[in-house]
Amino acid sequence: MARPDLPQIADARMLADWLTGPRSRALRRAGIGLANSVLEVGCGHCVVTEELLRRARGLVVCLDRQAEPMRAAPEQALAVCGDAHGLPFTDAVFDLVFFQNVLLWVDDIERVIGEACRTLRAGGALVALEPDYGGMMEHPDLGLRELWLGALQRTGADPLAGRKLAGACERAGLQVWLELAHLPQKANHRVVRLLDDLPLQPDERGRAYNAAAALREREDSWQQFVHVPYFLLVATKSDAD
Ligand SMILES: C[S@@+](CC[C@H](N)C(=O)[O-])C[C@H]1O[C@@H](n2cnc3c(N)ncnc32)[C@H](O)[C@@H]1O
Repeated sequence: MARPDLPQIADARMLADWLTGPRSRALRRAGIGLANSVLEVGCGHCVVTEELLRRARGLVVCLDRQAEPMRAAPEQALAVCGDAHGLPFTDAVFDLVFFQNVLLWVDDIERVIGEACRTLRAGGALVALEPDYGGMMEHPDLGLRELWLGALQRTGADPLAGRKLAGACERAGLQVWLELAHLPQKANHRVVRLLDDLPLQPDERGRAYNAAAALREREDSWQQFVHVPYFLLVATKSDAD
């Protein structure tokens, strides 16, 4: 059975494409062009690893706790199977540590950010793009927000991870820059596919099906609005550390 924290590769690409602009802005702000070593945590199918390789000056390491999806890792990247709660790297080895759609899935966000911070060099930066389903907007209401909040909580994920990021980074001693990335899009029934691998009750499955049908009816139109805000964060480790 598919794992709830790993969408199908086509859906992971859809999400990554949608986040291209904010990701690019955050990576530029974090100085990726000067980075000699980049760590991508929770890389999944490696849908952004190529981009990191293209933009960084040196080594890109991609890490995930699941080995299987990393078979898609580009040859030039170093793929490592491991857990973000205990990164298998010594201190101060990366110029940039990158997360996208990962921190909502971890058991202990403070520990994971602490680990990322430990492996960052002084002057290095943590970059994260994470959603916050509590801020989800719909019009007319399809009930998707409740479906997502309930299903994510049942899997042990944190649907409100986005709003907790900045505070966790500040507690880890990082200097935080934060933006809310709002990228409204016309109705697209494919967003509902992301619910497929989550544990829905039979009646919730029915609601998801109906929501997808409603979206399909108004495909590529502003008549139906579904939007999830993303927190975009760049947190820098002080040079003085
Ligand atoms: C939603 S996918 C995102 C993948 C990729 N970052 C992207 O944007 O397409 C979440 C990924 O985080 C990984 N993950 C979740 N918790 C992890 C942990 N504690 N350590 C390492 N990887 C983790 C999952 O295995 C999964 O591949």
